[in-house]
Amino acid sequence: MPEPWWKSAVIYQIYPRSFADTGGDGVGDLRGIADHLDHLAWLGVDAIWLSPIYPSPMADFGYDVSDYCDIDPTFGTLADFDDLLERAHAAAIKVIVDWVPNHTSDQHPWFVEARSSRQAPKRDWYVWRDGDPATPPNNWRAAFSDEPAWTWDAATEQWYLRLFLAEQPDLNWANPEVVEAMHGVLRFWLDRGVDGFRMDVIHALGKDPALPDWPDELAGIPASALNDHESTHGILRDLRRLLDGYPGDRMMVGEVYLLSTAKVAKYYGAGDELHLAFNFPPLYAPWEAGPWKKRIDRTFEELDPIGAWPTWVLSNHDNPRHRTRYGGSEARARAAAVLLLTMRGTPFLFQGEEFGLEDAVIPPERVVDPGGRDGCRAPIPWTADADHGWSGRDPWLPWPPEPDARNAATLAADSQSILHLYRRLLALRRASPALRLGSWQALEAGPDTLAYRRAAGDDERVVILNYGDAPIAIEGSAADTARRLVVQVASDGRGEGRLFDGTVAGSAAVVLGKGET
Ligand code: NOJ
Repeated sequence: MPEPWWKSAVIYQIYPRSFADTGGDGVGDLRGIADHLDHLAWLGVDAIWLSPIYPSPMADFGYDVSDYCDIDPTFGTLADFDDLLERAHAAAIKVIVDWVPNHTSDQHPWFVEARSSRQAPKRDWYVWRDGDPATPPNNWRAAFSDEPAWTWDAATEQWYLRLFLAEQPDLNWANPEVVEAMHGVLRFWLDRGVDGFRMDVIHALGKDPALPDWPDELAGIPASALNDHESTHGILRDLRRLLDGYPGDRMMVGEVYLLSTAKVAKYYGAGDELHLAFNFPPLYAPWEAGPWKKRIDRTFEELDPIGAWPTWVLSNHDNPRHRTRYGGSEARARAAAVLLLTMRGTPFLFQGEEFGLEDAVIPPERVVDPGGRDGCRAPIPWTADADHGWSGRDPWLPWPPEPDARNAATLAADSQSILHLYRRLLALRRASPALRLGSWQALEAGPDTLAYRRAAGDDERVVILNYGDAPIAIEGSAADTARRLVVQVASDGRGEGRLFDGTVAGSAAVVLGKGET
């Protein structure tokens, strides 16, 4: 049996609002994505994941869906989507869409109906509790604010649960009608030909029916980062059966926002739940060898025994970009690219990291996100021109730093740029069975370093990363293994194509192999 495509794929996250605009309204759209498929094919990614494109009042910029089976006019039409899908497939790029099953928008017709009276047929599609207007039913906190995870509905005099904004009421997955309706949504997109789903806060679907208080010491943490109820696993097994009923290895990657790899591991089930799950503890690791080693070890310790395939992600639309988190250094961003693209597991890139983008500085009057995540969502600069390839109006958010230099066109013209480094790493990974699917073994290289060997049959690669700012001469098992290997990619470009000399520059990483790439 060949391995499924998603194990050896590199998946690129597109945040459609900020990717590319063709409509002239300063907000990206589906045609903008289609127009830039050549960039993605040139870069060498295997699949794209689109953050939500569905009709939405945009209280949470699309993660508040008011119709799961259509496209928001800001982004285009279903015909534009079909065209994008066809063109992506023609370019051998798979397409994954976001699915937001934990909550709808409060403007979704289901909630409008549910809210209309206590006797409404869809009342039980959401989670309602009695009480008095001053006392929420439990101590759960919402995300993005210090508010309770409950909103009082004055007209019907009950509380409804919402783990995020008041505009995002939680669906009641204990109700079989909800399950059936949401399965229908998946079938709608699968029938259109999508290759899979990124599933939003998937660990939150099943809730303890008693909705008990959290212990006091946890009560300050948003409930969405705590909810881990066993009933979710049955829901996931049903979703898996639904996807597996379609030809072509349709894939689901879950956002399991529980900051413990042991907890994340449970969501793979016995190979009958999620195909992939995001594992966020590495994203929150500082740029230091020790914490990274621990998180990598923990990942393999938890996932390998159950046959689960890891994922790696450094940046996304919810967190400051990793270059920003790592202090703004381009050298570190380059070394991090080597790490991300040589790990064992499926890497996820966030649009713009291939350009070395940092977060935009957002003046207070331009903050629009209730969670304060605007910086990483800044628009992608495509050209060096004043409008950076965005037609018409200024984009909805300010540009990231140095758009005159950090834009696709300028970086494509410089073969030493970070963009070319990403492209070379992707090509190396694609050509190397060891990097795609091979084993992973830790090596010792000395203080402030991370080193490992990837192998599959005759193919062998060694990766050495220097987290420190000063150059180092490596020691230990890495030095023995690396002798007589050639530098195939160096994050600083130094020594490429030559026999490895045993040294790694400060904040740099090398990939070594038996000959030139
Ligand atoms: C996780 C998404 O990534 C985030 O952007 C969103 O705000 C929440 N889920 C709620 O849907």
